[in-house]
Amino acid sequence: MTVTHSPENQGDGLPPEQIVQRPRRLRRTAAIRAMVAETRLDPADFVLPLFAVEGLDEPRELAAMPGILQHTKQSLQRAVHEAADAGVGAVMLFATPAHRDPQGSEAWNPTGIMANAVRWAVDAEPELPVVADVCLDEFTDHGHCGVLAPDGSVDNDATLPLYARMSCVLADAGAAMLGPSGMMDGQIGVIREALDRAGHTDTVLMAYSAKYASGFFGPFREAVDCQLTGDRRAYQQDPANVIEGLREVELDLEQGADIVMVKPALAYLDVLAKACQISNVPVAAYVVSGEYSMIEFAAKAGAIDRRRCILEALTGVKRAGASLIVNYWATEVAGWLRS
Ligand code: PBG
Repeated sequence: MTVTHSPENQGDGLPPEQIVQRPRRLRRTAAIRAMVAETRLDPADFVLPLFAVEGLDEPRELAAMPGILQHTKQSLQRAVHEAADAGVGAVMLFATPAHRDPQGSEAWNPTGIMANAVRWAVDAEPELPVVADVCLDEFTDHGHCGVLAPDGSVDNDATLPLYARMSCVLADAGAAMLGPSGMMDGQIGVIREALDRAGHTDTVLMAYSAKYASGFFGPFREAVDCQLTGDRRAYQQDPANVIEGLREVELDLEQGADIVMVKPALAYLDVLAKACQISNVPVAAYVVSGEYSMIEFAAKAGAIDRRRCILEALTGVKRAGASLIVNYWATEVAGWLRS
C-alpha cells in the first residue's frame, strides 16, 4: 500500500478501510493491555539482598542507597518477615564483620556475623530460602574478593579452599542456597565438591557467572564498608565482552551450578538474553546497588516517576529472560503487585 501525499488528500488521512492492521486496538484500555501483556512480574521470582553488620546498635540508612538499611539482628529479622509476608521468593545475605584480616577469616567463623546472619534469617522464617553470599571482600582488610599473592595480585587457587570452607560453614548455619560471587576460576566445582563431601548435597549453588567489573557496584561498597582501593578488573569481566560472559556461564554449568547469574542487569540485558538461550538451569539477574540508586536519586530530584520506572526496569529484566531478579525493591514491589 502506498500513501500518496498529493494536495487533494492532504489532511483527510487514509480511508479507514485501507488500514487493516491496527496494533492500537490491543492498547486501548487497561483491561485489554493486561490481557495481552507478554511479561508479568511475580514476587516469587524476587530475591531481596540484606546487609547485616556486626556490633550495630541501631539500623542505619545508607547515604548512597536511600531506603536501604544496614541491619541489626532485630531489624534483619523484621525485614525477613516482611519479605516473606509479601511473597518474595528468597533473601540474600551479606555481612560486615567488626574485624578484618588479610585472609578474611571471619568469613568462615561458625559464630561470626555471616553465619549468625544466616541463622537469624532462618530462625525468622524457616520456610523462606536464604541465599548466603560466598566471597571474601567484606572480610579482608584489603577489600579484594580473595587472598593476595606476594606480588599483590589476587591468588585464585589459594582462595578456592577458603570459599569451600566458608560455604560449608554457611550451609551448616542453615543457608539453603549459596551465592559464590568472587569470580575465581573453578570456584563452583570446588565448592560443590566440598559441600557434597560434608553431606550438603541439597545446598543450591546460585553462581554469579557473568559478573562484570562494574561502576554500578559503587554504593554497595558503603553498604559493606568495603576497604578496597583500586578495582577488580583482574578477576571480574570486562564490560565490553559478551562471548566471555557466555563462556563463564558454560563453565559454571559444567561445574554443577544450579542457577547462573548475570550481574549487573540493566546495562547487560543482551548478555542476559543470550545466557538464557544457552542455559539449561534458571538464569538470575541482579539489579545492583548503582542501578537502584540511579532510579532513586533521579526520582528524588523529580526527574522521573519512581514507581513507574522501577516497574519498567524490572519488567525489562524479566522480558530479557530472567527467571529470578535479585533487587533491592523486592518487598515494596511485591506489595504493589498484590494490591
Ligand atoms: C562481592 C559482591 C559485590 C556485589 C555483590 N557481591 C561487590 C563487588 O563485586 O564489588 C555488588 C552488589 C551490588 O552492587 O548491589 N561480594
